[in-house]
Amino acid sequence: MRFAMPSGNVFEVKLDAVLPPDPVFEPQFRRAPHRGMTLSAHEMKQALMNALRYIPTELHSRLAPEFLRELKEHGRIYGYRYRPAGRIWGRPIDAYKGTVAGRAMQVMIDNNLDFDIALYPYELVTYGETGQVFQNWMQYRLIMKYLEAITDEQTLVVQSGHPLGLFPSRKEAPRVISTNGLVIGKWDNPEDFQRLTALGVANYGQMTAGGWMYIGPQGIVHGTFITLLNAGRKYLGIPADRDLAGVLYISSGLGGMSGAQSKAVEIAGGIGVIAEVDPSRIETRHRQGWVGRVSSSPEEIFAWVDEFRSSRKTVSIAYHGNIVDLLEYVDEHNIKAELLSDQTSCHAVYEGGYTPAGYSFEQGRQLLADDPAKFRAAVDASLLRHFHVIQRLCAKGARFWDYGNSFLASVFDAGAKEIARNGVNTSEGFIFPSYVEDIMGPLCFDFGYGPFRWVCLSGRESDLELTDRAAQELIDPSRNAMDRDNHHWIAEAGANQLVVGTKARILYADEEGRVRIALKFNQMVRAGKIGPVMLGRDHHDTSGTDSPFRETANIRDGSNVMADMATHCFAGNIARGMSLVVLSNGGGVGIGRSINGGNGIVLDGSEHMDQVVRSALSWDVMGGVGRRGWARNPNAIETVQAWNAKHGGEGHITVPTPVDEAMLEAVLKQDPGK
Ligand SMILES: NC(=O)c1ccc[n+]([C@@H]2O[C@H](COP(=O)([O-])OP(=O)(O)OC[C@H]3O[C@@H](n4cnc5c(N)ncnc54)[C@H](O)[C@@H]3O)[C@@H](O)[C@H]2O)c1
Repeated sequence: MRFAMPSGNVFEVKLDAVLPPDPVFEPQFRRAPHRGMTLSAHEMKQALMNALRYIPTELHSRLAPEFLRELKEHGRIYGYRYRPAGRIWGRPIDAYKGTVAGRAMQVMIDNNLDFDIALYPYELVTYGETGQVFQNWMQYRLIMKYLEAITDEQTLVVQSGHPLGLFPSRKEAPRVISTNGLVIGKWDNPEDFQRLTALGVANYGQMTAGGWMYIGPQGIVHGTFITLLNAGRKYLGIPADRDLAGVLYISSGLGGMSGAQSKAVEIAGGIGVIAEVDPSRIETRHRQGWVGRVSSSPEEIFAWVDEFRSSRKTVSIAYHGNIVDLLEYVDEHNIKAELLSDQTSCHAVYEGGYTPAGYSFEQGRQLLADDPAKFRAAVDASLLRHFHVIQRLCAKGARFWDYGNSFLASVFDAGAKEIARNGVNTSEGFIFPSYVEDIMGPLCFDFGYGPFRWVCLSGRESDLELTDRAAQELIDPSRNAMDRDNHHWIAEAGANQLVVGTKARILYADEEGRVRIALKFNQMVRAGKIGPVMLGRDHHDTSGTDSPFRETANIRDGSNVMADMATHCFAGNIARGMSLVVLSNGGGVGIGRSINGGNGIVLDGSEHMDQVVRSALSWDVMGGVGRRGWARNPNAIETVQAWNAKHGGEGHITVPTPVDEAMLEAVLKQDPGK
C-alpha cells in the first residue's frame, strides 16, 4: 500500500533515511532477560511490519533481518540501533529545544532512561522489572522530535509509547495525553499481554516509567520511611514521637523501588537487613551510600544486628542471597525479628521478577531462558517455602505485610489457598495485610496525603534548596502526625543526599498542602528566583489508581475492583488542563490487576498555571478522597466534611448516610427466606 506523502513546506516528523550506527552495549549496565517468544509465524511477520512502519522504506531490507533477530533473541523488537549512542540523562531544560512544556517533557523522559536510574536502560525499562518508557527506540526518537516541535496550542497523543500525532488543541488543554497497555477485558491477562508486547502494540508502563515521572528511588524512600514508622507505631506500639531504634526489619530487594528500603530504615532510625540475589544491585546501592554494610554470611550479619540493637543506633545491611534462605536462618536460630516484608518483583513472578530459592541470580536467569516451565515450578516451590517460614516467624511474634508487589497473590497462585482469608479465593483478601490496607490507606490516602513531587528543571542545586526551604515553611508540624513526619523529612532531605538523576524532591502532602506549595513555587518562577518546575506525583496515590491488592486495598464496599476512580481522575485532570496526563494498565501489581494514572504540571510562572494548580491539583486529590469517603472510610469522611465546610460555595462531595449494622443484622436474621 502506498500513501501520498505531504510535499512542499509541510511540517513533518519522521525518522531519517540514514541508518544509525551499530549499537554499542556497555557491559556494566544490566540487560533485560529474554521475554519469551510465543508468536506464530504469522504474528512474527505482523511484529516486523509493526516495527518497520517507523522506518523509511529504503532501510527495510537492511533492518528486517536485524529486527527478526531481536525478536528471537529478546522476545521484543527494541530497535537498539535507534538508541542515541552514549549517555542519556535529564539535562538542564535549556539544553533542549522547544517550548517550556515541550522541553520539560524531554527532561523527564531522558531522566527515566538515565544509566544511573533505569533498571535496563538499553531495553527502555525504568524500574519494576518490566516498566518501560516506550516500547522501542524509534518511538523515543519520534516523541523527542514531536516535543521539540510542539506549540502551546497542540497536544501530543501517545498510545502505548506510540506517538499517534500532534493534534491542534488549545492553550488550556494538556500538552501530552498518554495511555499504556489499556487492553480490552477479554484479553486483559498476562498471556495475551505478552503476545501484544511482542507484536509491538502494547506497552507495560508500570506507573511512573510510562508516566515519565520516575525520580529514582528517592520517590519511594519517603513512602517507605512513612510506612516503616507507621508499621512500628501500629504493630509494635511505638509512640508517635519515637523512631525505630532497636527494631529489626527484614525484607528483600535492592532494585528500583525496593532499593529505597535500606535508606528509609536508616532515616527511620531502625535496623534493616535486606536480601538481594543480584550482586550488581547491591553494588549500586552500596556505592550510592543507600546501604551501609554488605555480607553473604548470616552469622556475620546477625552479629552486627546484635551490636546495633544494644547501641540503639541505625544500620542497613545487604544480605547477598535469597530471602527464603535468610528467613529460614532467622527461624532456625530463633532470632528476634519484629517487622517483615518482601519486595521481590512478584508482579512479574514468572518473568524473572522472583529468583527461586536454590538458584543463584545467574542460574535463575539461565533456567528461565532454557526451560520456562521448570523455572515456573521452581518459583512456585520457593514461594511456598517463603510463605511457610513467614508463618513460623509470625507465630513467634513477627509482623508481616505485603509491600504491594503481589507477593500474597503469587503465593495463592502457587497453590497455598490457605493464604486467602476465606481459604477459597482472593475476594475477601489475605490472612496478612497489605501495606496500603493497614498503613498507607487509612493513615495517608484517606486524608489525601500522597507522593507529591517536583523536579527543578534548571538542573540547579540551588533551585532544589530554595524549593525545599519554601515547602518546609509551608508545612506546620503541629497540624497532625503526618505533617510532623513530613516536616522532619523535608528538613533532612538535602542532608540525606537522596537525589539520583534530575534535581527532584518527593514530599507527601494533602490537597491543601499540594496546592499551597505549588502556588508558592509558581510565584517563585514568576519572580525569577528559580527556573521552571515540573510538578507531578507517583501513580501510587489517593485517587490516580484503582488496584484492589494495593492502592484500593482498604476500600471495603465491594468497589475495590472498579476502575471508575482512576478513569475519572485521568479525565478530570485533562479537563482541568494539566500539562501531562497518563492512564495505564497494571502498574506495580501486574497486568489486569490495576488501572493507574499519573500527571505533570509544568510551572512556567504564568497566571494560567496558578489556575491549573487551583482546580486540577485539588480535583486530583479530592476525587479520590471523595470515593474513599463514600466507601465509608472514616478518615476520608472527616476530610470530605472539612472540604465541604471550606468549599461550600464552590462545590460539594457526597457523604454516606451511616447505617446501623445491628439493625441490619436483625433484619437479616428475621428474613423468612433464611
Ligand atoms: N517500594 C515501594 O513502595 C513499592 C510500592 C509498591 C509496589 N512495590 C513493588 O515492589 C516490587 C519491587 O519493585 P522494584 O522496582 O524494586 O523491582 P526490581 O525488580 O527493580 O527489584 C526487585 C529485586 O528483588 C530481587 N530479588 C528477586 N527475587 C529475590 C529473592 N528470592 N531473594 C532476594 N532478592 C530477590 C531482584 O534481584 C531485584 O533486584 C515490585 O513488584 C513493585 O511493584 C514497591
